[in-house]
Amino acid sequence: MHNDIEKVVISEEEIQARVNELGAQLTRDYEGKKPLVICVLKGAFIFMADLVKRIEVPMEMDFMAVSSYGASTESSGVVRILKDLDVSVEDRDVLIVEDIIDTGLTLSYLINILEGRKAASIKVVTLFDKPARRSANMEADYKGFVLPDEFIVGYGLDYAEEYRNLPYIGVLKPHIYSK
Ligand code: XMP
Ligand code: MG
Repeated sequence: MHNDIEKVVISEEEIQARVNELGAQLTRDYEGKKPLVICVLKGAFIFMADLVKRIEVPMEMDFMAVSSYGASTESSGVVRILKDLDVSVEDRDVLIVEDIIDTGLTLSYLINILEGRKAASIKVVTLFDKPARRSANMEADYKGFVLPDEFIVGYGLDYAEEYRNLPYIGVLKPHIYSK
């Protein structure tokens, strides 16, 4: 285990098993369709890579990078698009792949944007859901794990851009935050 990690919250095996289940469910639900699967960078990139291998329907993929305005760790709800999609979402069945939903503000803003661009349908799959601090009226259509309000890292999720490469989900030792 990485030296900075206090405890492992979800093991690599548990994540893989749940990702396989989500993939099977999405395969059934998108049968006969050709979804446009959108990865929200950076946090969702590992989940995206593992999940799409388990969705056995024809699909296209695109990537979008967003960031909340301001330096605060709290989501402001105003999202800045750092990298926009390359392809049009018009008349497409869009599946947004997110790492984690906390307040829900980032995602509700993103959905607003894509609705304005006339997607045929928009669904959200998130690997992690932290409902405790939800302020936007926002529920994912598919979720991997519901977690308490605790800051997690690993499997794509970072603290100050570190720890994304950990294959499990963990909580950092408290002294890391006071560095
Ligand atoms: P919302 O708008 O739903 O923001 O409040 C979701 C975004 O906040 C980040 N986030 C986390 N990142 N560990 C992380 O590494 C966490 O526990 C965590 N909680 C929220 C993340 O970027 C997510 O997309
Ligand atoms: Mg994110």
